[in-house]
Amino acid sequence: MFPPPQTQDADSSIRLTDTDAALARLSAVQKRYLEDPFIKHLVPRAHLQPARPPLINIGTFVRATAIDDLVFQWLKSAADHGTRCQIVSLGAGSDTRFWRIATGVHKDALAAYIELDFPEITSKKAMAIRKSKDLSAVLGDPSQVAVAHGGTGLRSPTYHLLPADLRLPPQDTLDKLLAPILSPTLPTLLLFECVLVYMSPAASTALFQWFIDYFSPEGGGALGSIVYEMFRLQDSFGRVMVENLKARHVSLPGAEPYPDVKSLPGRFLNLGFTAASALTLKEIRKSYVSREELERISHLELVDEVEELDLVLEHYAITWGLFVPTSAVAGKWVEWGLNVQPVGDDEE
Ligand SMILES: C[S@@+](CC[C@H](N)C(=O)[O-])C[C@H]1O[C@@H](n2cnc3c(N)ncnc32)[C@H](O)[C@@H]1O
Repeated sequence: MFPPPQTQDADSSIRLTDTDAALARLSAVQKRYLEDPFIKHLVPRAHLQPARPPLINIGTFVRATAIDDLVFQWLKSAADHGTRCQIVSLGAGSDTRFWRIATGVHKDALAAYIELDFPEITSKKAMAIRKSKDLSAVLGDPSQVAVAHGGTGLRSPTYHLLPADLRLPPQDTLDKLLAPILSPTLPTLLLFECVLVYMSPAASTALFQWFIDYFSPEGGGALGSIVYEMFRLQDSFGRVMVENLKARHVSLPGAEPYPDVKSLPGRFLNLGFTAASALTLKEIRKSYVSREELERISHLELVDEVEELDLVLEHYAITWGLFVPTSAVAGKWVEWGLNVQPVGDDEE
């Protein structure tokens, strides 16, 4: 891929990472690693886009399998508790998760699904949704669907698309945008898929603190959070990743505090979360993805570079954390997480 022109500012380079993520998902779908009938509506000229290399497809598959399961468990726990839940996706880009949930078995467990991203990204998404019958049909009664925030957002009974720069003080952004929509009493899951890595650790902490404060008062609901991104960028492979991204004017300040997998849960535990865990994509592929699925995807494409695959996968991790404001709220939420067989200690 050619680097973007030199004239682009750093934020437009960050926004371009959404195109990478959407093309990676589209490729994994076209190669049959994943099923997603919606992504083609969010990628311009989807049928003309070239497939990504097998390494990228496998990484996308492993990440999606694990995050889908964590989200599915959250929705199921809500249903088991006889309640509905909310999902807030920060830096959602062209993600299709809302449409997959809203057409899936747990659609009734969803009280609200909120997506935030830069206004340039949300306006593009709002337009793509309005243009696609398949996407807009899922939003419900058309008379209750409206463009919002001067064309940079969308409002519907369950789905909300909101423009925000997540690095700004949350009191200046989230107070206004989320407080009218987000119930502090419902169990709520925050998704950060490859977004915090582009922000300073201080800006990420401020975001988490805002949500903790929002859900803390007596009667607050359980708060779960999933972070997926690269880490361990201090080793030689990590340094190459950093250099490659620098050539595209993208820096990764959010990865600095996380030199190894053991450091990742600290992101949550240092803020007072009740529990937190992390697994690399390498661990997830080895010990979490079912044998049947591994067998199935092994026939999709030839992978020569198995060692390189492991090297890439051990630089990406999924970290999940749970905050329960009072022990009365704990219930089954404490069981939420990925259950894997231990895979030795090569992830030190
Ligand atoms: C790599 S993409 C991931 C998109 C989506 N989460 C996914 O996994 O498919 C990163 C997204 O985060 C958004 N993002 C990064 N920094 C942001 C910020 N400060 N405020 C709002 N959005 C941001 C980008 O615009 C982009 O859409």
